[in-house]
Formats: sequence, C-alpha cells, structure tokens
Amino acid sequence: MAHGMDDDDAPNEALAEFKTKPLGGWGVAQIAVGTGLTVYAVWVGILQPGFRKVPLRLQVPYIPASKAQVDHVMSLFKGRKGGLVDLGSGDGRIVLEAHRQGFTPAVGYELNPWLVRLANFHAWRAGHHDAVSYRREDLWKVDLTECKNITVFLAPSVLSLLQKKLQNELSDDALVVAGRFPFPDWTPCRIEGHGVNRAWAYSMQAQRQHTLKKNDTLTDSNLNNELTKEKGST
Ligand SMILES: C[S@@+](CC[C@H](N)C(=O)[O-])C[C@H]1O[C@@H](n2cnc3c(N)ncnc32)[C@H](O)[C@@H]1O
Repeated sequence: MAHGMDDDDAPNEALAEFKTKPLGGWGVAQIAVGTGLTVYAVWVGILQPGFRKVPLRLQVPYIPASKAQVDHVMSLFKGRKGGLVDLGSGDGRIVLEAHRQGFTPAVGYELNPWLVRLANFHAWRAGHHDAVSYRREDLWKVDLTECKNITVFLAPSVLSLLQKKLQNELSDDALVVAGRFPFPDWTPCRIEGHGVNRAWAYSMQAQRQHTLKKNDTLTDSNLNNELTKEKGST
C-alpha cells in the first residue's frame, strides 16, 4: 500500500524537482542553441526558399493579414470590378476573399513555394481551386501594366521602391491598397481601420496629380531661390 502511494507521488516529485531545480549555465546554453537551431531550420526550410535570387534588402518575411485587415482591404475595393492582384500573396487569404467578392481573375504572386502550396490547398478546401491563381513569381519582375486592382502587405523598407514600379507601370484608373504599412510618399484617398489592421487606398490618377503638383512646387521654389540669389549678387 505504502509502496503504491510512493509510485503515485513519483511524477509529482519529479515535477517538483523540475520546477525547483535551477537551470545551470549548461542548461541555458542548451536551450539557447536548440532555439537558435529551430529558428534557423524554420527559416531555411520554410521561409527562405524562393528568396535566394532576391537581394537581402528586398526580402520580406511572411506574416498573414488579420481577418480585420482583410476586411478593411476589401472594403477599400468596394465598387470596383475586374481582376485583383495581391503582390506577395502568402497563404492566399486576400486572393480567396477577392474571388468570393466577385473579382475575376483573382491572382496572387508569391515567391515561397510552401506558401503557394498552402494557398492552393486553402483554395481547394474552399472549393475555389479553379477560380483563383497563385503564381510562384518574383513580384519585382511581374508586368503590372494591365492590373487595375492591386493590394500589398509588405515591409516599409521595400514600399518606396515599389511606389516607383507601380507609378511606372499602372494606368490612371488603377487603385492600390496597402495593408498594415502605408506607402511613404503617397497621399491616400481613403483609409480604413486602426492600428495594425489599417489599410490605405491610393488612386493612381490622384497620385500622379499630387506628384506633379509637388514637382511644380519644388521647381517654383528652386526658381525663387535662383532669382533671390541672382538679385543678391547684382
Ligand atoms: C507580410 S506577408 C503578406 C501575405 C499576404 N499578402 C497577406 O496579406 O496575408 C508578405 C509576403 O510577400 C512574399 N514576398 C516577399 N517578397 C516577395 C517577392 N519578391 N515576390 C513574391 N512574393 C514575395 C513573402 O513570401 C510573404 O508571403
């Protein structure tokens, strides 16, 4: 009987010992190395594939948009028609939602093959596998001239370069929606949501007008500076 009680107590004792026994330096080092190796394995095996040819400064990690973020992005596209493109489509959630809301074709460009597979799986599970398209392509190399509805959720560090690509390729009737991070130099025509779920819409036509005005103002102020300098020297 007493023996049985000892057995029952054994796991508790082991747990108590585990709880009270302080981790030595060796234990801490083992945990640190183990965590480091796990993070490295996840990075190399799951997150890194596809990025080998992309310069380090343009690499953006995968973070899925929240449900609220997807809702805000899609509400900024309300009233628009035609196709929709997600640049860096991750697990495909925005593309799938765009298809559900009637955008055709709904296309995602994604470098990471695991995410392309996951997106296809989600689309298949939802019964829309034939209606959406996830392409394993580098977004910097995609020709966007025919796109009218474009969404992005990328790191702030790449958005200023992307501004230039979009401005060069998109037509005036295109609408760009950025999730979580706004474009640094553009003026949004509408904003939805707050905090990390916020989304910004940019009309390309309005954007071009803002840029022209900005350039005109800069040219005017340069001219004024030149005139002031000239007056000063006479
Ligand atoms: C922050 S996640 C956003 C995922 C998705 N759009 C969403 O809102 O849930 C950015 C995605 O862009 C992809 N990505 C980054 N650089 C890319 C590139 N050059 N070409 C294609 N996809 C890229 C990443 O793999 C990642 O899945």
